[in-house]
Amino acid sequence: MQKLRTVVVGMGARGKIHLHGILQNSEMFEVVGICDQKKERLELAAVQFGLSDEICWEDAEEMLRCLRPDVMAFATMPNVRLSLAELAAKYGVKGLMFEKPMATSLTEAAKIKNLCQTNGIKTVVCQQHKYLRSFQQLKEVLDTGEIGEVYRIEASCQPQASQLGTHYIDYILWAAGGVRAVSVTGHVHGSFYLEDGHPSPDYVSSGLILENGIRAVLECGYFAEQHADHNVGFTHGPGTASYWTDDRLTVYGTKGYAWASCSGAYAVFSPQTSPEIRMGDYGDFFEREQYEAQMRYTKDFGRWMLGQAEGHPCNIAQAYHGYEILEAIYISAIERTRVDLPLELPLEYEPLDVLKKELKPVEYRKWKRMEG
Ligand SMILES: NC(=O)c1ccc[n+]([C@@H]2O[C@H](COP(=O)([O-])OP(=O)(O)OC[C@H]3O[C@@H](n4cnc5c(N)ncnc54)[C@H](O)[C@@H]3O)[C@@H](O)[C@H]2O)c1
Repeated sequence: MQKLRTVVVGMGARGKIHLHGILQNSEMFEVVGICDQKKERLELAAVQFGLSDEICWEDAEEMLRCLRPDVMAFATMPNVRLSLAELAAKYGVKGLMFEKPMATSLTEAAKIKNLCQTNGIKTVVCQQHKYLRSFQQLKEVLDTGEIGEVYRIEASCQPQASQLGTHYIDYILWAAGGVRAVSVTGHVHGSFYLEDGHPSPDYVSSGLILENGIRAVLECGYFAEQHADHNVGFTHGPGTASYWTDDRLTVYGTKGYAWASCSGAYAVFSPQTSPEIRMGDYGDFFEREQYEAQMRYTKDFGRWMLGQAEGHPCNIAQAYHGYEILEAIYISAIERTRVDLPLELPLEYEPLDVLKKELKPVEYRKWKRMEG
């Protein structure tokens, strides 16, 4: 089998996880180049993964022009998206993998989606928690009908909307069967994270109606329900691993409910478990689970690229819709009304720009966490 000649741009924490996932699927992918503008990161990654200096590049365009790879993965901060997608299209890349949030505006997200679709580039956005074992347990419960017919989904995360929120919007749609949202409402407050590299209000809550009638509730930020101990305020720092995995996707069906978290924990209450709750915890997101999920996510991408699968659950159309929902939530908060989807482009204004002008700082406050 001809391997997919692959390059990875961005050798920060996430880029190295992408690289790991690609190297672990070496029957499908061959890494022909790695790139970072920061030489020291590039050198460190090459040593860490035992790669030759000869495949290290500091300039992404030069690398693409010389190597003409089949696949490009990039893991850069949210403000670096469209420019790299344009380079991928310019140099004939056929498969693109990049990080969430897919953009910092819907206008940019639409440009990337259209660019990829027009150029026939198979593209995925890394909302990969659905490949964690805890989430796979949840999916199995949904697929076997163990909790009956799904009618309600709740998603919450402590990190702000542009950090984990886009993941959880995507997982709502995934748990509901890959459907679209038709209407959303939104509330937002707090300006601290609007100036962050991942700009969002400090807290976002939303009600969503999905096309199959399922209702969903989303909460992102400090005011969302807390499931683990961490008191990191608006200035989280090192040693706060439990903050980054403090999230939960809960699905209610006519016969029971089930939830999963990227901390590795999951639970099921159904006629099969009653009167008990079946619980498990794979733990160790940072040491093991995130690497294994990345391997499964990458493998599915390779299968799609090689024509062995019809598509991928993280495809760009799905990611775009998730991002559209986030901006619709912001518009609902700004306009104080329900917002129906799809949104028509161009928008009358950039919602984040309006929020940057209008939102005020709020004091961080910690509430006692709920058990279980
Ligand atoms: N999917 C997940 O579970 C998950 C988890 C954490 C972070 N992320 C996302 O991953 C992304 C990257 O996060 P990170 O912590 O690795 O960021 P980072 O800033 O540590 O690393 C990004 C690297 O990209 C390099 N870079 C930027 N522009 C470049 C260019 N044009 N050419 C070459 N190199 C370039 C930078 O020098 C830097 O080393 C963010 O969007 C973040 O939200 C996703």
